[in-house]
Amino acid sequence: MSILIKNGRVVTAVDDWFGDVYIEGEKIVQLGTDLEASVHADTVIDASGKLVIPGGIDSHTHLDMPFGGTTSADDFDTGTKAAAFGGTTSIVDFAIQTKGESTLKGLDAWREKALNKATIDYAFHMIVTDMDHGRLGEMDRLVDEGVTSYKLFMAYPGVLYVDDGTLYRTFRRAGDNGTRICMHAENGIVIDEIIKEAIADGKTEPRWHAHTRPTRMEAEGVHRAIAIAEVADVPLYIVHLSCADALDEVKTGRARGVDVMAETCPQYLFLDQTIYDRPNFEGAKWVMTPALREKWNQDVLWEGLKFGHLANVATDHCPFCFKGQKELGRDSFTQIPNGAPGVENRVSLLYHGGVHEGRLSLNQWVDLTSTAAAKTFGMFPKKGTIAVGSDADIVVFDPDMKRTISIDDPATHHMNTDYSAYEGFEVVGWTETTISRGRIIVDKGSLVTEGGGEYIARARVGELLR
Ligand code: URP
Ligand code: ZN
Ligand code: ZN
Repeated sequence: MSILIKNGRVVTAVDDWFGDVYIEGEKIVQLGTDLEASVHADTVIDASGKLVIPGGIDSHTHLDMPFGGTTSADDFDTGTKAAAFGGTTSIVDFAIQTKGESTLKGLDAWREKALNKATIDYAFHMIVTDMDHGRLGEMDRLVDEGVTSYKLFMAYPGVLYVDDGTLYRTFRRAGDNGTRICMHAENGIVIDEIIKEAIADGKTEPRWHAHTRPTRMEAEGVHRAIAIAEVADVPLYIVHLSCADALDEVKTGRARGVDVMAETCPQYLFLDQTIYDRPNFEGAKWVMTPALREKWNQDVLWEGLKFGHLANVATDHCPFCFKGQKELGRDSFTQIPNGAPGVENRVSLLYHGGVHEGRLSLNQWVDLTSTAAAKTFGMFPKKGTIAVGSDADIVVFDPDMKRTISIDDPATHHMNTDYSAYEGFEVVGWTETTISRGRIIVDKGSLVTEGGGEYIARARVGELLR
């Protein structure tokens, strides 16, 4: 099978040129102009007036994840299809170690969930819930399996939380074996005390989720994670950074020479905490951690992206339906499953708010939606760019198409939730065609290929994957 994409504006994290991309099998084999004269493609896609970009990489998703007394609503079937509609061709999901059990067993469980279900390619971070000395060797075996990053939680005491000793031990081993630590940085112990005070005062509505998670407690977590990573000598990646206070800590650490980078998510760039005040428990739809913040933080985060203090934009896609799932917390916000859907919306939202509204260049947009994740998480140059020899993960993107995201317009919502976190958002810029390893998955709004997503065994920090 061969595909010629002709006459497009080909944009990578560094390049920007007009011409053709020729794909044979799963790989990009030729770049140039007027390639039609020299190749005979099975399929020709005319990309005149369109952007031709590397497929998006969402390095933070939670598919089919048991959490908050229920399970996230998208599995590897629905979640990866929705991702493809939105221009994402690879995800890095989070496998979970059951406390007291092997991390490798956790990895097996998540590989089983994805097998024969995923339509796009997928990799895994490993969520570490305990790591005593006897278990440290597992971290090296995970590397052999292509898992080269771990996520640890300072939040959710009694669930995913680990203490500082566990952080240090895990950080040390990751520093030694050439992998990366992802950190959910929020002081969950203090936050739990604040939550107890709120509940005792009868403050049970969704908006108290935000008021019980002060930005200072996120900043404290970031500060502590950076200090421990500095001593343990490990590259650190702060996930879902939500606010200016936390970003200040990242900037300070980086200025001191610590190898720390951070991601933010579309929800922190586009939504703010006033949404929790919506009547009839509707605010529950946006209960996620960290919580949505005061609106002024958004400008600071956009600036962080523009000037490189923030390195990546991932979704933290952790979808729950309003009916039957979010409703578990009608009596108390503490029982609302934390998370929101977004894997389908990221590429368009970031184009709209970034490029269309003049905050980011086209190259920055591609970097933040694809290349940075590939480089950070050991998938480059197999993924994350348009180059000869790279996987043919390519999106033809219409920079002029306007759409209104709505659960009521099935063309704009394929995630398995009964609401959209971005309901009514008008965006300029939409995915037209999604190609994953040389297979056309989505074409002009239709899913044309199902399944076929493969596991990506990732390289260590700083190593290339081919
Ligand atoms: O609310 C969120 N973020 N749910 C997913 C779990 C996590 O902390 O990433
Ligand atoms: Zn988290
Ligand atoms: Zn998450």
